[in-house]
Amino acid sequence: MLNEIKYKIIDSTNSEAQRQLQNGVAPKEDFVIRADFQTDGRGQRGNTWHSPNEQNLMFSYVFFPSKLEVKNQFMLSQAAATAVARYLINNGVENVSIKWPNDVYVGMKKICGMLIENSVSGHYIKYSIVGIGININQVNFPENLPNPTSLTRITGRLYDLDTEFAALIEILRNNLYEISRLNADTLMKRYKSMMLGLDRMLIYRSGGRVFKGIIRDVDYRGMLTLEDAETGLSDQYAFNEVNLVIPEQNKENI
Ligand code: BTN
Repeated sequence: MLNEIKYKIIDSTNSEAQRQLQNGVAPKEDFVIRADFQTDGRGQRGNTWHSPNEQNLMFSYVFFPSKLEVKNQFMLSQAAATAVARYLINNGVENVSIKWPNDVYVGMKKICGMLIENSVSGHYIKYSIVGIGININQVNFPENLPNPTSLTRITGRLYDLDTEFAALIEILRNNLYEISRLNADTLMKRYKSMMLGLDRMLIYRSGGRVFKGIIRDVDYRGMLTLEDAETGLSDQYAFNEVNLVIPEQNKENI
């Protein structure tokens, strides 16, 4: 049985998981912190994550990997992102893809974001806090979000959050445990088969430069190989060095 601690309101499920782990009150095995509402939901690149009360899934899955080396930490992103993608496909959603490194998209719209925070001991990951926000029943979104969507927006149905949570957690747990069983190539193949923009031209921004790019590869560290479609030259990028431009210039590709 997975230990689940649910809050009606909390600052951030990632922060709460971190506090519990640091105070030594947390279980020594996998557990989940879940919330109906976050007052200080955190996103990638220092962004905030807003979600209305009781409409979407927000949780942090705390995973204790067995012997996962720090240099292989991208496998956590791969396992979690492919789990969410699989969950959506199982719900009959089409055009699901993973926007590098670990957002989940439907068409050119974002349905899920992740904030994965690892604690390291020597060469190994001691534990990983896999924070996931996935839009389920939300219909109206703030104007300032470039391209949000939700399961309800896509299918027109309303969902029971507990049921959806259980379905998603089962896939996520399996995928995370597979990290130690599967070889890295199998996970990479699965990730790449779902990757948005692989061998396809989309618009990117790096520094001040906006250009047409084609993802040619991603390596085991999570570094992206992006080809400039005009020059034919490829460069490698780390996560904060390049951004997909959304959605105006990419609309014709939806
Ligand atoms: C992003 O797309 O920028 C990542 C968003 C991650 C949001 C989730 S919601 C549950 C967990 N708790 C947080 O504070 N953040 C993550």
